[in-house]
Amino acid sequence: MEQGTGAPTRRAQVIAVGNQKGGVGKTTNTVHIAAALGERGKKCLIIDLDPNDTATRHFGIEGEAFLGSYELLTGDEPADVLAMTEGDSEFEFPPNVHLIPSRRKLESIDDVLPEKHGKFYSPRDILMDPLKRVLDQYDYILLDTAPNSAVPTKAAYLVADWFILTAMPEPFAVTGLTDALRDIQDAQRKLNPALRLLGVIIAGVDRRTNLSNSLTEYVRSAFSTPDGQSAKFRTIISRSTVIPSAQKSGKTVFQTSPDHAVAHQYRALAQEIEERIARLTGAAAPEPVDQNVSEVVNG
Ligand SMILES: Nc1ncnc2c1ncn2[C@@H]1O[C@H](COP(=O)(O)OP(=O)(O)OP(=O)(O)O)[C@@H](O)[C@H]1O
Ligand SMILES: [Mg+2]
Repeated sequence: MEQGTGAPTRRAQVIAVGNQKGGVGKTTNTVHIAAALGERGKKCLIIDLDPNDTATRHFGIEGEAFLGSYELLTGDEPADVLAMTEGDSEFEFPPNVHLIPSRRKLESIDDVLPEKHGKFYSPRDILMDPLKRVLDQYDYILLDTAPNSAVPTKAAYLVADWFILTAMPEPFAVTGLTDALRDIQDAQRKLNPALRLLGVIIAGVDRRTNLSNSLTEYVRSAFSTPDGQSAKFRTIISRSTVIPSAQKSGKTVFQTSPDHAVAHQYRALAQEIEERIARLTGAAAPEPVDQNVSEVVNG
């Protein structure tokens, strides 16, 4: 991605989290990775690009009440104005996590974009242009995508530096991942040759099942990062009721059960993400900050 304007103190890594298969943990992982990176002192912006606004509701926010990704993509409002932050005392954000919310109206955006940006608008530019203004304000920008191929999803694939695939052990998980990989390769071939697979997260795992063992083995052998190592993240996120119950209360597990194994797993995953980006970009590896991390890296 290009440099933002001015003299940037930070240069955000832009990460799209996806899989066009529905209900595989995209939103849960996006929100908890951001919260874990935030806990490590990294400034994160989540952009909810799904009209179902699950990421938005994860923060206890009623999306209908706020301007958000719709106005970002139409160009009506800039990202820094749309970003909701810890400063909005009405809501309890995890430290260092900001959110551009979504709402149902995003569903109709494909119809209004030609009117806003002209008939030959670029799905890449409608997201890239507003992002440029905030690239120097964040360490990470995470794009939560919908399980479809509408323009906001395409835009995410076209602006991201990195792609994180998510999967859960369930029938057809492998087909979903194969389709998702084809989408990434399409985006690379067409308009975003810089897009790289950062890794595959396996979440919602009860390690006793054959399904989870075979998915883990498939991901380990079939997906690789640009330097030829397995793309599977070593940290696996367990299935646990702390996740849906935190979501019901509009909070992350870091806020409801900070000492739960799942919270530690997300901390370990955030550390792996930082180490992997450092490895793939040749940057210095980050210091571990969570002493429990080595105990939960289990793959
Ligand atoms: N580790 C976990 N343990 C238990 N339940 C989980 C876990 N991770 C996610 N879930 C549940 O699985 C469901 C799907 O998760 P999530 O909404 O994150 O998936 P998604 O891929 O974003 O879905 P969509 O495609 O609809 O956007 C949710 O009900 C969530 O509470
Ligand atoms: Mg989702």
